[in-house]
Amino acid sequence: KFVRELSGLTDMEVELQEILKISKIVILPQDSDEIPAVKSHIGKEAARFLENLFSTYKKIAVTGGSTMAAISKEVVGSKADQALQFIAARGGLGEDVLHQANTIAAAFAEKTGGSFKTLYLPDHLSAEAFAMMMKEPVIKEMMNLYDQVEVIVHGIGNAEEMAVRRHSPIEEVEKIRLGGAVSEAFGYYFDKNGEIVYRIRTAGIQLDQVRKTDIVLAVAGGASKAKAILSYSKNAASPTVLITDEGAARKIIELT
Ligand code: BG6
Repeated sequence: KFVRELSGLTDMEVELQEILKISKIVILPQDSDEIPAVKSHIGKEAARFLENLFSTYKKIAVTGGSTMAAISKEVVGSKADQALQFIAARGGLGEDVLHQANTIAAAFAEKTGGSFKTLYLPDHLSAEAFAMMMKEPVIKEMMNLYDQVEVIVHGIGNAEEMAVRRHSPIEEVEKIRLGGAVSEAFGYYFDKNGEIVYRIRTAGIQLDQVRKTDIVLAVAGGASKAKAILSYSKNAASPTVLITDEGAARKIIELT
């Protein structure tokens, strides 16, 4: 704590809270773009925050990404809690398996003694296939489950980088680019004002379901994520908690 105060991180948290209008912000020292271990520190901090919620909240939706994977590595349950349920926030299969929401939900469940709910659907469905899929009972069940989510934990991505990582078709990349998308979270792409530019056509949690949750925990660090965090914050539901690093924080302050 003393080190944090000495390094000005506590002041920076307050400053960032005002800029982003996010109810709670934790900034970890250094920049995860430059020092990979910082991502593990973000993971550890987010894991401790989550563990404190487990006694109150049982239905937790999780997205994919390397930052989410870092949390799943750090999380430990104080005791096996069978009532905990980790729900993959999207059915997306576009990403590297280890970073998919489905894999992360399973990892959280394994660490805490809880259960998990997954959904396996491609990231890019045609309009017809999507309409058909949405009628399937397993998918309907998942969509109903999203209504009961109490906490969502998610990463924030740079819009164009996410489109590339997901091998998005050219029409999708065009929409993202022309729409001026800056950030991406749980399958939604947002522009610099936080307006939705595009949404991936796959079954997943809806923005209004995210808004209904009791707590939103967003995790993203590195100076390269500064613009994305700013864009996302314009649409952030409250109460949102952001766990980030000094690299992102300094850059956000510089940009505003
Ligand atoms: C993806 C999620 O897997 O990870 C996205 O589907 C998120 O919603 C992204 O934006 C963040 O990734 P990372 O690796 O930068 O934490």
